[in-house]
Amino acid sequence: MLNIAIFASGGGSNAEAIINHLENHEHLFVRLIVSNRKNAGVLNRAKKYGIETLVIDRKEFYENKKFTTQLAAAQIELIVLAGFLWLIPPFLVKAFPKRIINIHPALLPKYGGKGMYGHHVHQAVFDNQEKESGPTVHYVNEEYDEGNIILQARCELSASDQPEDIAQKVLRLEHQVYPVAVEIVGQFIREGKI
Ligand code: GAR
Repeated sequence: MLNIAIFASGGGSNAEAIINHLENHEHLFVRLIVSNRKNAGVLNRAKKYGIETLVIDRKEFYENKKFTTQLAAAQIELIVLAGFLWLIPPFLVKAFPKRIINIHPALLPKYGGKGMYGHHVHQAVFDNQEKESGPTVHYVNEEYDEGNIILQARCELSASDQPEDIAQKVLRLEHQVYPVAVEIVGQFIREGKI
């Protein structure tokens, strides 16, 4: 069994889509949900599925030892960021090479970087009158949204789409592609392909 930890700061709709997709999977198991916010909606979703949760504060997160030990104790082999807003510290990137992936709600390299999350992204896409948008799944390195791209999905935008409409279109695509991307990356790790 390959154990997965999902890190999320918010509502956790992507986390739930992944949990549902991998429920009863032969080889992949969502073992742990980590959040930096004790009131994050994702924690209620985790409880609903009986998945262990861990709320982490900034000091613990950026201080190597304890957190790494907790991940090791849970035998985590893949970390999936799903709306997790803190930059991953270098020691964690090093401890999990090609083992941390993220979804970003825009077609990177456009609309990425510090401060570009959630509605800020969709507002910028709207302000620039983009004709398309869509999520990017990528590996995580020490910089925001700069790791190698695994996949992108696209949707057309119409002139009447408001930022909320763009957000909805992109989130719908996220729910379709992220669970599958997690499954493929998880399988590749199991099979020693990455
Ligand atoms: C998602 O749209 C995700 O792409 C975005 O946060 C949302 C989380 O929604 N992530 C970022 O903006 C990261 N830069 P969810 O909590 O419902 O899954």
